Amino acid sequence: MLKVGLLGAGRIGQVHAVNISGNLRSDLVAVSDVNMPAAEDLAAKFGAQATSSEAIIADPSINAVLVATSTDTHSDLIEAATAAGKAVLCEKPVDLSLERAKACLAAANASGQPVMIGFNRRFDPNFAALKASSLKGEIGKSELLSLTSFDPAPPPVSYIKVSGGLFRDMMIHDFDMANFLMGERPVTIRAVGSSVVDPEIGEAGDVDTAVVTMTYKDGRIAVIKNSRRAVYGYDQRVELLGSDGLLQAQNMLENTVVKSTVAGVSSAKPTYFFLERYMPAYALEWEAFVAAALDRTEMPVTLEDGIAALAMAEAATTSAKTGEAVTVAY
Ligand SMILES: NC(=O)c1ccc[n+]([C@@H]2O[C@H](COP(=O)([O-])OP(=O)(O)OC[C@H]3O[C@@H](n4cnc5c(N)ncnc54)[C@H](O)[C@@H]3O)[C@@H](O)[C@H]2O)c1
Repeated sequence: MLKVGLLGAGRIGQVHAVNISGNLRSDLVAVSDVNMPAAEDLAAKFGAQATSSEAIIADPSINAVLVATSTDTHSDLIEAATAAGKAVLCEKPVDLSLERAKACLAAANASGQPVMIGFNRRFDPNFAALKASSLKGEIGKSELLSLTSFDPAPPPVSYIKVSGGLFRDMMIHDFDMANFLMGERPVTIRAVGSSVVDPEIGEAGDVDTAVVTMTYKDGRIAVIKNSRRAVYGYDQRVELLGSDGLLQAQNMLENTVVKSTVAGVSSAKPTYFFLERYMPAYALEWEAFVAAALDRTEMPVTLEDGIAALAMAEAATTSAKTGEAVTVAY
């Protein structure tokens, strides 16, 4: 049984609390949050103790921590928890700074403790099935990947200002999906970004709409499209074109009813946002972490994977600013 401390009782921390306590091989024993009432509320729901992050990390009876705190705390908490002998599952991104994330990797490696990064989309059953089909060679050699990832509505500008920007905060998931589905990392990145959804996002120095093209050493290509606004819901689609065919993963809809009348044919909207769309993926992600931590097998998504995605986000941020193609420095 993995005894787990959850750091951060915010939006995603609440999802993880459900999965930690719902898993037969893990037990949620403590919850922390700098906002103590939030930790107390969440801990009370699951019969856990509310305490500080420092106390969880110092507790020798806790074997693993899940870091679901604000992004700017991730590297520090990974380092402290691994130094204290705990396995760590940390939310994306590893850090806002690539340099800081690399220092964190060195410290975590020195501790010998396993670290997994929360790229939940790898555990989405649709995307995992698409990857399995590609790995079996069912579409021959994959040549062109297209990822569409649109949020239903932009977050408040106060969030944008501390998010690290669209490429580090949002497209980081797509960078990881591209690495997962293409089986290797791109060499070159070109990015175009704009703030057409909300000019205030532009005034805060960020973009809300972006397209990235990536090229691989053998000439393959991937395209990522992101927008902070899709009025019809959370649009998450994958298309992989290969030498022998095409694989597509479509949106999850609110229901499967298709209405056909003289006016036309219509169906329900995509599910609203990540909490609705990826709930099964978060549970499977946690299950994979628990299995790797208890059985001492390799983590299915590593800290190195998190750093690769961050290096791609930094390259895209630079490319969008300069208008130049950037060779990614992993
Ligand atoms: N994988 C995903 O799909 C996904 C989805 C949402 C958020 N995230 C990531 O999860 C992290 C949290 O995002 P959120 O939306 O839950 O934010 P949030 O603001 O709702 O929650 C973060 C919580 O962390 C607390 N906190 C900050 N520093 C702390 C510390 N040192 N110790 C304990 N608590 C601390 C804050 O008080 C807050 O309650 C971010 O890094 C975000 O990028 C990932």
